[in-house]
Amino acid sequence: MQFHSTQTYQNLARAFAGECQAGMRYQMIAKLAMKENLVRLADAVKTIAKNETVHATQFFNKFLEKGGNKEDVLIDATYPFHAGTLAEGLKFAEGDEKAEATEIYPSFAEVAKREGFNDVAALFTMIAEVENSHRDIFRYLTKAVKDGTLYKSNEPLLWVCSECGYMHVATEAWKVCPLCKAGQGYVDLHIPFKGI
Ligand SMILES: [Fe+2]
Ligand SMILES: [Fe+2]
Repeated sequence: MQFHSTQTYQNLARAFAGECQAGMRYQMIAKLAMKENLVRLADAVKTIAKNETVHATQFFNKFLEKGGNKEDVLIDATYPFHAGTLAEGLKFAEGDEKAEATEIYPSFAEVAKREGFNDVAALFTMIAEVENSHRDIFRYLTKAVKDGTLYKSNEPLLWVCSECGYMHVATEAWKVCPLCKAGQGYVDLHIPFKGI
């Protein structure tokens, strides 16, 4: 069977569409964060948006373009279209990442293995691991935004201004940087996960 006629090719096309959309949704979340002057949170979300764009590129460049038959592909899938507030957007993102990490990509990897495309299976498995770390990051950010603890901690932490580098150990970051007057949103976050 030609590669472009397989379920794996269809799954790659769905994954490409999903990654492109995730990248765009996360850029919209970053914009919501900027409206609240949460610059470093926006930076973290933009980094994840970039990751999704690279995932899409991997699917496209490694497999979809090379394995296609030059005809357009009909994608049969559902995709999420939800936004809401910053906290809601972060929560939705956590759920979307969970679905990719624990259901969608593992099942795509299984299908790829069954159809004999071990290189595609390996890519789905590697990306699922990244999505799992995205899920952790979004889970942390959702809770921190909801609870108002992005810049608060029970234990003293080192807070660093991303603008001027001013730093200070305290249980709460300053509202306005004593050195450069940048707002609190410029203070580096304490995201306890890899990848950011
Ligand atoms: Fe992704
Ligand atoms: Fe992701």
